[in-house]
Amino acid sequence: MTASIIDGKAIAQELRARIKAEVASFRATGRAPGLAVVLVGSDPASAVYVRAKARQTVEAGMLSFEHSLPADVDQEALLRLIGLLNADPAVDGILVQLPLPSHIDATAVLSTVDPTKDVDGFHPVNAGRLATGDPAALEPCTPLGCVHLLKSVEADLSGAHSVVLGRSNIVGKPLAQMLLRENCTVTIAHSRTRDIAQICRTADIVIAATGRAAMVRGDWIKPGALVIDVGINRVATGDKSALVGDVAFEEARERAAAITPVPGGVGPMTIAYLLHNTLKAAGRRSGLPST
Ligand SMILES: NC(=O)c1ccc[n+]([C@@H]2O[C@H](COP(=O)([O-])OP(=O)(O)OC[C@H]3O[C@@H](n4cnc5c(N)ncnc54)[C@H](OP(=O)(O)O)[C@@H]3O)[C@@H](O)[C@H]2O)c1
Repeated sequence: MTASIIDGKAIAQELRARIKAEVASFRATGRAPGLAVVLVGSDPASAVYVRAKARQTVEAGMLSFEHSLPADVDQEALLRLIGLLNADPAVDGILVQLPLPSHIDATAVLSTVDPTKDVDGFHPVNAGRLATGDPAALEPCTPLGCVHLLKSVEADLSGAHSVVLGRSNIVGKPLAQMLLRENCTVTIAHSRTRDIAQICRTADIVIAATGRAAMVRGDWIKPGALVIDVGINRVATGDKSALVGDVAFEEARERAAAITPVPGGVGPMTIAYLLHNTLKAAGRRSGLPST
């Protein structure tokens, strides 16, 4: 079997077009939704992500507010900025680009963002709402994108055994909650899991979010499984470098029914769901029915 490729770029483009149309309707309220992005330091990969987020925010018809702070900014100054953004009526969504420098307590920073403006869905209130099935949650963008990609192939995921590789707060754990909501049977594996290859072979759905290049081999994949590769790993190829996922793509595509590429799979969905969450937050703050 050669897998079909799940085209995250095209699916994200469709989603962004829908969001843009909804933003145009929202603007009839007299204002545009606004997203503030806070970047601390000058990590080149983070700067690229922030620029892409700002560009796509504007393309969707929303306002983008960018705040760049030096790498040595003190935590109090960062918390003060978040306080100002929390209070600013033009700002519907606040995103603090991770990772933060080591002298800053990321948990304290993320917990300071107003949960109603927490478009990354990382605030403990939103994590708790997701875990308890409260629809008021703003939910993390990358897991939302993964579920959307799965449902583009298989509308009903009910009963599927899903193996999530990785248990981070930003991908693995929220994704497991969302897959439970889709009535999947969920196994979460991590660096201490025994017989991980054997567990994967029992999966109808494999989602890899470990940050380990090409860790998931072809013979880990049950024939006909769906494979979502969240990983983004830069590896050296001769005197150049390339981006690869956590799945050995060429091997896995020989067994899977459908698979996401890297790049062009989950990545574009993450930004599209950031726009979705910003519009959702704006709608709620304006008392409109939720999108
Ligand atoms: N496409 C996107 O938009 C997007 C968004 C976010 C992240 N990512 C990418 O997704 C990957 C994961 O991100 P993250 O933030 O979740 O990473 P993270 O916080 O470093 O978590 C990695 C998880 O993988 C587990 N793990 C590491 N090595 C493993 C191994 N050999 N076997 C089994 N499990 C292993 C870790 O287990 P322990 O808990 O036991 O340490 C941990 O739970 C990274 O490549 C990241 O760049 C992509």
